Amino acid sequence: MTTLIIGANGQIGQTLIKQLCARGERPRAMVRAPAPHLAKLGAEVVIADLEQDFSGAFKSCDKIVFTAGSGASTGADKTILVDMWGAMRAVNYAKQHPVKQFVMISSRGAEDPDNGPAAIKHYSVCKKLADDHLLQSGLPYTILRPGRLTNEPATGLFSTTMPSDKEAQMITREDVASATAYCLQTPGTIGNIYPLVNGREPMEAALGH
Ligand SMILES: NC(=O)c1ccc[n+]([C@@H]2O[C@H](COP(=O)([O-])OP(=O)(O)OC[C@H]3O[C@@H](n4cnc5c(N)ncnc54)[C@H](OP(=O)(O)O)[C@@H]3O)[C@@H](O)[C@H]2O)c1
Repeated sequence: MTTLIIGANGQIGQTLIKQLCARGERPRAMVRAPAPHLAKLGAEVVIADLEQDFSGAFKSCDKIVFTAGSGASTGADKTILVDMWGAMRAVNYAKQHPVKQFVMISSRGAEDPDNGPAAIKHYSVCKKLADDHLLQSGLPYTILRPGRLTNEPATGLFSTTMPSDKEAQMITREDVASATAYCLQTPGTIGNIYPLVNGREPMEAALGH
């Protein structure tokens, strides 16, 4: 079993690589530049860019995680090319392989961009279109829709009910990585879309098993 992590050098990506290697897996880390720190952890590093042909990264992979993002410092053009089009092309490439699960790190707001945070509406639309493409692909999917990400220490406690107070819609990156690692080894999470924030439930209670 090989899991491809797209966006492996990102903050969630790196934590996820650490967690998967710690449980004895050898994930494939797709990065844009050499990443000896990920190889040192035990990952197989492949260099590819979401704005180019990255089909080669999928060879022999049976699980895919998309946790790339263009970030807040680039413009709406990159949100379209990386967050939306990159994710949609990842789904297309995955369809050419016997993929058992595609885990999409989506976002709060993607379920209904018209009623999500106004400041990130164009991003929410891009995330929604990528999610819809995955849903329509026929691939076994798990979609996580985290609230605003923080770098606080992990809590290990979750809620899959998005609070109505937008300020309370938060989750640590480390907890999102743990939830992703959990989904990858829990077939019962396939076919689910989870809004995800820090809350009061342990992982199994929040995400099922
Ligand atoms: N920020 C939030 O509050 C929030 C909320 C909900 C969901 N999310 C989603 O959570 C996910 C991960 O967040 P994060 O904080 O871990 O992100 P991050 O640290 O910014 O990492 C994003 C990664 O995407 C990679 N990337 C960007 N453009 C690329 C391209 N053209 N080709 C290949 N890789 C590319 C970056 O590569 P380099 O290392 O080479 O730059 C980086 O490693 C994203 O999907 C984001 O949309 C974020």
